[in-house]
Amino acid sequence: MVNVTRYDRGAIAFHWSMALLFVIVGVLGLLHDSWPRATQSFWINLHALLGLALWVLLAARFRRRSAHPPPPLPAAAGELSRRLSRPVHLLIYLLLFVTPILGIVTFIWHGRVFDFGLFQVDLAVPKNRAIFHPTEEIHMYLAYALFTLAGLHALAALWHQFIRRDGLLARMWP
Ligand code: HEM
Ligand code: HEM
Repeated sequence: MVNVTRYDRGAIAFHWSMALLFVIVGVLGLLHDSWPRATQSFWINLHALLGLALWVLLAARFRRRSAHPPPPLPAAAGELSRRLSRPVHLLIYLLLFVTPILGIVTFIWHGRVFDFGLFQVDLAVPKNRAIFHPTEEIHMYLAYALFTLAGLHALAALWHQFIRRDGLLARMWP
């Protein structure tokens, strides 16, 4: 019998692989100003490529989600969880979608070239500070909003697991 109280395998695989990738992309972003100048473009390229991978995974995950809706919350879930969980999850999805767009614009209008190893994608856009400066700033604020939301989200999951002990984490556990 299908266990309708748990997320399915696909959703779980997407969740944990994207959570890991998100941490790596976020840390690479935060470290951007700490790299020696000579290696900075290598690291920002890596940040951009992994960020793009996250974006592609997000599209696939969201598409899949419409065909496999998340399981309903358990009857024991509190009123606050019932009201907050869906909108918070959707807001995380929205931020995961919008943040990379600002990153892409910043990257391109900084005159950078996507280096995929085997080939490069050079859009030959001249560096334009009037564009990449504000978009870089917005990209940063959106990333900080995501860190905050994802951090609160992870804390809420741990609170459910260890304080409320309502088994919520088990719904997403592999
Ligand atoms: C959800 C995915 C992403 C997150 C969480 C993220 C996060 C960050 C963070 C925290 C910074 C540092 C901001 C600062 O202190 O100035 C940053 C910078 C940057 N990110 Fe992202 N990023 C993501 C996706 C992307 C993508 C897909 C691209 C491009 C294809 C990109 C391109 C950049 C660029 C160009 C910078 C500015 C570096 C510079 O100063 O030149 N990011 N990102
Ligand atoms: C230690 C870290 C994390 C833990 C313990 C955790 C735990 C969970 C749990 C238990 C659920 C299912 C909630 C429910 O039953 O309604 C969930 C869903 C979700 N998580 Fe996480 N999570 C973590 C990190 C992240 C990160 C880093 C992101 C994205 C940046 C993320 C995004 C999501 C999203 C979007 C959902 C909703 C899934 C859906 O309904 O489509 N999580 N998480």
